[in-house]
Amino acid sequence: MDTLIQFSFVVAAALFIYGLKQLGSPATARRGNLISSTGMLIAIVSALVDQGIVEYQFILIGIALGSIVGVAAARLVQMTSMPEMVALFNGFGGMASLLVGWAALSPAAGTFNLVTIVLSILIGGLTFTGSLVAYGKLSETISSAAVMFTGQQVVNSLIVLSILASAFMFCLQPTDPQWLYLVVGLSLLFGIMAVIPIGGADMPVVISLLNSYSGLAACAAGFAVDNNILIVAGSLVGASGIILTQIMCKAMNRSLANVLFSGFGSAQAQGGEVEGEVKPITVEDAYYVLEAATNVAFIPGYGMAVAQAQHVVKELAELLEQNGAEVNFGIHPVAGRMPGHMNVLLAEADVPYDQLLEMDEINPRIETVDVAIVIGANDVVNPAAREMESSPIYGMPVINVDHARTVFVLKRSMASGFAGIENPLFYKDNTRMLFGDAKESIGGLVREFGS
Ligand code: TAP
Repeated sequence: MDTLIQFSFVVAAALFIYGLKQLGSPATARRGNLISSTGMLIAIVSALVDQGIVEYQFILIGIALGSIVGVAAARLVQMTSMPEMVALFNGFGGMASLLVGWAALSPAAGTFNLVTIVLSILIGGLTFTGSLVAYGKLSETISSAAVMFTGQQVVNSLIVLSILASAFMFCLQPTDPQWLYLVVGLSLLFGIMAVIPIGGADMPVVISLLNSYSGLAACAAGFAVDNNILIVAGSLVGASGIILTQIMCKAMNRSLANVLFSGFGSAQAQGGEVEGEVKPITVEDAYYVLEAATNVAFIPGYGMAVAQAQHVVKELAELLEQNGAEVNFGIHPVAGRMPGHMNVLLAEADVPYDQLLEMDEINPRIETVDVAIVIGANDVVNPAAREMESSPIYGMPVINVDHARTVFVLKRSMASGFAGIENPLFYKDNTRMLFGDAKESIGGLVREFGS
């Protein structure tokens, strides 16, 4: 039986790794998800059988209940609320590691065991409360603004030092419960303190980081209860979370320290004076330009997610293709509010994967584009990132839509995007603003093509 269980753990680990690899491309991502979750099912069932913790009927009831909650959450939660859901999942993962670590405490525990127990409690605890704050900010249950006060870094440093001291004392005197309670309490407090100074729209980066922490907590819990598959799964989550965090920071040209400590978004910095004139365009006039275009690129952003315009965008793309135009989609790595946000929306609308071009692919050919249609994107197409050294986003790689022959910007007003800065793109000679909800504007263009 033991050999069989160890073999199942190896199979589960292989499925995790293969599943992760498949997540690297939109074309194989669904399969990757399925493969990884099969690995997880095998791992959980094997671990439960191995430990003989509960009887089989309870395992089956657990699987049924978990599946019902999982299916309901996946079906009911809106695509725009996905980051919140991931935040909650991370938080529960952290809490689970805290509880597992705590439950592993026994009078016979050696020093190594005590260290892994205290790590799973510490990281699990801060992941739990940090994720709840992240959830609150994203769902606007609490204010999404960065909360900053004088001496914040000193207070946080003192909390960290107290956690380390209590953890050390706990390892020296494991039978004295006060040190353990202190580690639990301070870790929970630190999770809150670490996330409140971060502005709501930086939450995806924080969630990815907390995801990584939940993996590390699970890994520590794996050592605490001597379970190999938990160690493997935790390490994979820990490593992939930190890689994703790094990718997002790079795409915003910001360091992780800047995301965590700068309070970006709390004080809305201006990027300097913008010159030029805003030139609105009507749906009818936009149609005439598009009708004559032979190369069109859509650049979606957060506004497409808000407007839920992806299906009508796909309709327009098809009409343009039937009209003889080449159509592509330029995807910025941090467009929207979560990694892969635009890919997920466009996949939902069945846009062919080969039309999705990453920023590095679309930028070299943007000058051959007749019309670049910016759908609710703002910061990720802001030329100030190239042109204005005083801009807070100076140096961030952007999609250079202003180099296309004509640019249509679809948004409701002149309001700024997440970074809270002016966008000189709106004032350029080759830009026309198509004001209104993106779904309605694109729907109007589709009707024009049909009439
Ligand atoms: P934003 O710069 O946030 O701009 C979105 C624009 O959409 C707004 O200017 C808004 O203008 C418009 N909009 C909203 N609802 C709309 C609707 N119904 N119809 C039409 N337009 C609508 O979005 P972006 O360009 O995608 O940039 C993403 C930002 O998030 C970047 O600053 C990025 O650094 C940050 N961020 C992203 C991530 C990830 S992983 N994606 C992580 C952290 C931070 P109106 O109000 O005028 O309509």
